[in-house]
Amino acid sequence: MVSTDPPDRFQAVRSDFIDRKVVSHLTTMRVADLSAGEVVVRNRYAGVNYKDCLAIQGKAKIITAFPRVAGIESVGEVVESSSGRFRPGQEVMVHGFQTGIAFDGGFAEYLRVPAGHLMPLPTGLSQLEAAMIGVPGFTVAMALERFRQLGITPESGPVAVSGATGAVGMQALLMLSQAGYEVHALSRRAGDGSMLHALGAAQIVDARPLADETRPIERPRFAAAIDNVSGPVLSWLLRSLKDDGALASVGNASGNEFSCNVLPFILRNATVFGIVASPAWPVRERLWERLASAWRPDLSRLAPHVNMIRLENLLEHSRNHLEGRTRGRTLIRFD
Ligand SMILES: NC(=O)c1ccc[n+]([C@@H]2O[C@H](COP(=O)([O-])OP(=O)(O)OC[C@H]3O[C@@H](n4cnc5c(N)ncnc54)[C@H](OP(=O)(O)O)[C@@H]3O)[C@@H](O)[C@H]2O)c1
Repeated sequence: MVSTDPPDRFQAVRSDFIDRKVVSHLTTMRVADLSAGEVVVRNRYAGVNYKDCLAIQGKAKIITAFPRVAGIESVGEVVESSSGRFRPGQEVMVHGFQTGIAFDGGFAEYLRVPAGHLMPLPTGLSQLEAAMIGVPGFTVAMALERFRQLGITPESGPVAVSGATGAVGMQALLMLSQAGYEVHALSRRAGDGSMLHALGAAQIVDARPLADETRPIERPRFAAAIDNVSGPVLSWLLRSLKDDGALASVGNASGNEFSCNVLPFILRNATVFGIVASPAWPVRERLWERLASAWRPDLSRLAPHVNMIRLENLLEHSRNHLEGRTRGRTLIRFD
């Protein structure tokens, strides 16, 4: 094993299951305490996603075995490796593969990662740039690729994005508008309109009254939609698709349930597909290569909406996030 020696103890936010409740706290750990893997990574940036906040606050059954270091994504560099594929000093990233769920993840200064889960940093992206894009940008890339495969081009019509002030929503506005689509942002925060326009939204739709719209089918408005919230918004988007329209179901920020009827399918040939941002390697490599080149989001426009926090502020941030008091992308920066 080649080594640049991680310290004996380092900081982590660890989640335990005590008295049938998830309890997360700042503590110190050793590399040997982490779940097994061939590569030890010094963490530089960890994305904080909605799912991570649910996990560490015990608001959903996400972590599959305790104790666990949550955090579904990390960017850093290798400090120890018994894998021939990775060497100390190499810049790497990990997301998906149950990271932060069944394997210890990004909410610690060091990670131990199975070599089969780790990827070299995409050529052309710095550690910070890769972290800013992260799981939210990768998720949008998966949706965009599928829209293209379904033949949805900028000429097909507008594309809607719900939960527009969230991490996925903002990157969807940027990437879809950069790809030439007319993007309509659905948000409960109508007051954020100028920010959403600056990120690429051509129109803003107030998402709050959509729950009262109960027509079985709506005026055909959108060639495609990325839905981050589920519930009545997802239902309205589906009923508002144009002929041959497609909807990517990405998230559940308002809950898991939605109701609909068959009319979008049997009258307009609608396609609904799901996204899980942990695809097989060929898809990962192809999409990260695109995110570093042709589909690279303009990160100077995203930067004002990236909140940098410290590990010790994670628990407070997660409470605020779940109470809807945050916007945009949040990253933990490690020294
Ligand atoms: N499938 C995947 O692989 C994948 C990958 C990444 C994320 N996700 C999921 O996608 C969703 C969005 O992720 P994110 O990182 O963008 O989350 P986020 O940063 O928390 O943003 C979610 C946005 O949804 C809206 N929202 C929040 N609570 C709501 C409520 N109760 N009712 C209606 N709208 C609400 C808000 O936007 P407005 O205030 O602007 O309406 C909020 O900014 C989450 O559910 C996340 O778990 C899934």
